[in-house]
Amino acid sequence: MSSQFDLVVIGAGPGGYIAAIRAAQLGFKVACIDEWKNAAGGPAPGGTCTNVGCIPSKALLQSSEHFDHANHHFADHGISTGKVTMDVAKMIGRKDTVVKQNNDGILYLFKKNKVTFFHGRGSFAGKTDAGYEIKVSGAKEEVVTGKQIVVATGSNARALPGVAFDEETVLSNDGALRIGAVPKKLALIGSGVIGLEMGSVWRRLGADVTILEGLPTFLGAVDEQIAKEAKKAFDKQGLKIELGVKVGEIKTGKKGVSIAYTNAKGEAQQLDADKLIVSIGRVPNTIGLNAEAVGLQLDERGAIVVDGDCKTNLPGVWAVGDVVRGPMLAHKAEEEGVAVAERMAGQHGHVNFNTIPWVIYTSPEIAWVGETEQQLKARGAAYKAGTFPFLANGRARALGDTTGMVKFLADATTDEILGVHIVGPMASELIAEAVVAMEFKASAEDIARICHAHPSLSEATKEAALAVDKRTLNF
Ligand code: FAD
Ligand code: NAI
Repeated sequence: MSSQFDLVVIGAGPGGYIAAIRAAQLGFKVACIDEWKNAAGGPAPGGTCTNVGCIPSKALLQSSEHFDHANHHFADHGISTGKVTMDVAKMIGRKDTVVKQNNDGILYLFKKNKVTFFHGRGSFAGKTDAGYEIKVSGAKEEVVTGKQIVVATGSNARALPGVAFDEETVLSNDGALRIGAVPKKLALIGSGVIGLEMGSVWRRLGADVTILEGLPTFLGAVDEQIAKEAKKAFDKQGLKIELGVKVGEIKTGKKGVSIAYTNAKGEAQQLDADKLIVSIGRVPNTIGLNAEAVGLQLDERGAIVVDGDCKTNLPGVWAVGDVVRGPMLAHKAEEEGVAVAERMAGQHGHVNFNTIPWVIYTSPEIAWVGETEQQLKARGAAYKAGTFPFLANGRARALGDTTGMVKFLADATTDEILGVHIVGPMASELIAEAVVAMEFKASAEDIARICHAHPSLSEATKEAALAVDKRTLNF
């Protein structure tokens, strides 16, 4: 097998594997290197997203939601089940199967698209006239050369200073996704996306969950009205969230973990728990890449410095996904991967950072695209707002889930949609319509004039668009 490639991609997470496939579709000879190992030591492409992120977290969210429904909602439908039990090992096993299906799917896609896959760590070894030399350290050691390189090495969980992850008592996202039995008491630090999703999983399964959050505001990046509505729902569920805390000493022992902290009033507190999940953000990963060998520039956070086109300081070297600036989201990484491959082929790859949707897969789900009301206020924009509650939506009533609302923000003069914010059932699916609308620079009236199926949750989107002009029909 020749070791000379048009493109070598380092990392097979959503950024890397998608860049590799798109480049192969465009006629390049492509290699992709990834070091992730499954339990048997074999390749497990798909990165954080597939192995310890998006996919396994959504599998556990689904299982725990079924459990929650069986326990608390089936009776409303006249279904009696008797005592409902949860086999945690089986739930985790199912999650592992889902992960493996995704790993295998990517290996299949590499074959289909003639991407050569290398299992091992890729590191810069040097540069010759033929391109960049990348050493692959796996079962054996070999060197591959790429005329162009895409670095897509992702991110790692940030640890609290002095508190290493042991994945037994102090857990990162990795350990949080394979807890063997429902902990009686579970503590989390950080009520961001992972804190809320993982906290929800284990609360639904019966754990007493407390989340300690450093900031005084809940979900500061989310539209305030939506965040407030979500917080109300989480409070009602018994998910305890303490805002404005300062975490102090953390001690671990045979019995679990003890966290000293100061609450928002400045009072000294202590939280004892069986396990602690630390979910305080993620750091770009360039460990083992040997970036210094070629002078690849990193910033003070350790992220690879790129321009708007994902070009690094080195000609022919690109970087995408969590290892560069911007939101750490799988779909953002994928879009950058596609755009970079297309730019290499002389096309006009394009990523619109203003229309990247965010979703938090709790119950209720939270999803948004574009600007929040507080952002519009801060920049002095003239805007109109319209909201519609799921309480007034027939499908939501039939589903038995009427929490939340859809909120539209539109330019006061042109009516162009500036942001759409949803808290409620299937917000993750509903947000797609808003993304399409914003990509096409639609006005709120455009959405209000489109026929939406009845009964559907999407009618709440149409009604929120009507609400911008103060003319809802069903509320
Ligand atoms: P990664 O997915 O991190 O992939 C990087 C890959 O590079 C890894 O496979 C790694 O092994 C490999 N690698 C690193 N260095 C080397 C090297 N030197 N040589 C060879 N291989 C190397 N995002 C969403 O959009 N939706 C979600 O629902 C969502 N849920 C999440 C849940 C959790 C618990 C977590 C932790 C994250 C979640 N994310 C979610 C974020 C998402 O996982 C990341 O944004 C996404 O995985 C980034 O993709 P990437 O390709 O940049 O990097
Ligand atoms: P996050 O940035 O979403 O939240 C971290 C939270 O921890 C913040 O609220 C922050 O104020 C708080 N915090 C930071 N330091 C603290 C400290 N010392 N004490 C107390 N609180 C502290 O990060 P998270 O949840 O770790 O997730 C990382 C990233 O992974 C997300 O930002 C997102 O990009 C991605 N992700 C996406 C998901 C999705 O799209 N559904 C799901 C899970 C993760």
